[in-house]
Amino acid sequence: MSLHINQLAPNFVQKSTKGQINLYEYLSNSWGVLFSHPKDFTPVCTTELAEVAKLQNEWNKRNTKVIALSVDDLESHKKWLSDIEKYATFSVDYPIIADEDKSVSLAYDMLHPEADDTFTVRSVYFIDPNKKIRLILTYPAQVGRNFDEIIRILDALQTVDNEKVATPVNWKTGEPKIIPASIKDETLLKQQYGENIKQVYDYLRFTAK
Ligand code: BEZ
Repeated sequence: MSLHINQLAPNFVQKSTKGQINLYEYLSNSWGVLFSHPKDFTPVCTTELAEVAKLQNEWNKRNTKVIALSVDDLESHKKWLSDIEKYATFSVDYPIIADEDKSVSLAYDMLHPEADDTFTVRSVYFIDPNKKIRLILTYPAQVGRNFDEIIRILDALQTVDNEKVATPVNWKTGEPKIIPASIKDETLLKQQYGENIKQVYDYLRFTAK
């Protein structure tokens, strides 16, 4: 089954390095980033999981719970954890799902048989507090993800929700945002977005910051 953005994230119950996880209960009112790994004891995955451990404060600041997944078993995950923690010089405080029966990988379309039918591709699902999938990334096994970009995406998603704006190309926190073209009323515009609006075209207007 393929999943699309704005669909409800499928719930699941599965084994993990932090005990059995029920996705919805685990996320509760937090944002979630669910990301899959092709295989345990592989080099690219080890660097990625270490980076996610180092970023734990950034996830916390964004009220976000991260969850990793691979289709290897729990015993293998637990052995691999010590390599990851040594490499990261940080503890791994997030769960790694042992999706041995591939039930989660199948529900989230993480197995791409044309890439490889034995392990998952590098998928990332951004899940909001209403359990909606808000963004999906897919990388091949050989290409490691950029977790600075994953944090930037979280910031952008949370900003567009909180401030009723859109984010322009290469946007980063603190930079001007785009005011929706649908808002025409001058009073409302100033009330909501401030006095210092920069208008480039009638359909392209930026907030001051
Ligand atoms: C890796 O994580 O290094 C990897 C995993 C599967 C295929 C290729 C690379």
